[in-house]
Amino acid sequence: MMAPVEEASLAARRCQLLEGVKGRVLEIGGGTGANAPYYDHGTRLVVSDPDPSMYPLLLEKARGDNSRFSFLSSTAESIPFEADQFDLVVSTLVLCSVINPGRAMAEISRVLKPGGKFLFLEHIRATGKKAYLQDVVQPLWSLVGSGCHPNRPTVSLIRDAGFDVEKLELFDPFSSFPGIARFALQFLTPFAQGVARKE
Ligand SMILES: C[S@@+](CC[C@H](N)C(=O)[O-])C[C@H]1O[C@@H](n2cnc3c(N)ncnc32)[C@H](O)[C@@H]1O
Repeated sequence: MMAPVEEASLAARRCQLLEGVKGRVLEIGGGTGANAPYYDHGTRLVVSDPDPSMYPLLLEKARGDNSRFSFLSSTAESIPFEADQFDLVVSTLVLCSVINPGRAMAEISRVLKPGGKFLFLEHIRATGKKAYLQDVVQPLWSLVGSGCHPNRPTVSLIRDAGFDVEKLELFDPFSSFPGIARFALQFLTPFAQGVARKE
C-alpha cells in the first residue's frame, strides 16, 4: 500500500534523513526495515519494534548484514537500555501510532547521550481547518489504521520533551499524486522531517 508514496517521496526522504549517520543508533518502530538500506556501514544499529513478526523482512532489507544490526522487541514507551547510550535515535512514521507519545519522547531523551540527536520523519497535525478535519476522522482512522493518529502534534511533543529542533521541513508526499488521490489523502499531511538535539 505504501509503495507509491515510497517511490514518489519517502524513499528519497529516508535517504536524506539518514545520510552520514554514524555511531550507536537506536531506531524505534523499525517495522519491516524500510530504513535499513540507507544506513552507512559504520553504523551500529539496534532496531526495535513491538511486533517481532517484522524481523524476517527487516533482516532481508538489511541485506543479510546482521553483524551490525541487532533487533529487539520493545515499545518506544519502555526502552530496555540504560540512560545515555545512543548517539542517535531514529523514528519514521512511528510517533503517530505509539499509545503514549509523551512517555515515548521521555524514553528517547533518556537513552540519548547529552547532545545526541533525534532524527524524525513523521506525519503531523495540520493547522487551521485541516486540523479540525483530522480531529473528526481520527477515531475511524485509528480503528482501521493500527492506532495511527493523523492529528498528533508531534513536533510540539518533541519540543515539550526538552529537545531543540535544529532542522525542520514540512512537506506533502502526495503532491505528485493524481487529483482525487491527493485530495483524499490531505488529512494525512503535512509530513515533517527534522533533527532535534537533546539539550
Ligand atoms: C507505519 S509503521 C512504520 C514502520 C517503519 N518505521 C517505516 O518507516 O516504514 C509503524 C511501526 O510502529 C510500530 N509501533 C506501534 N506501536 C509502537 C510503540 N508503542 N512503540 C514502538 N513502535 C511501535 C509498529 O509495530 C510498526 O512497525
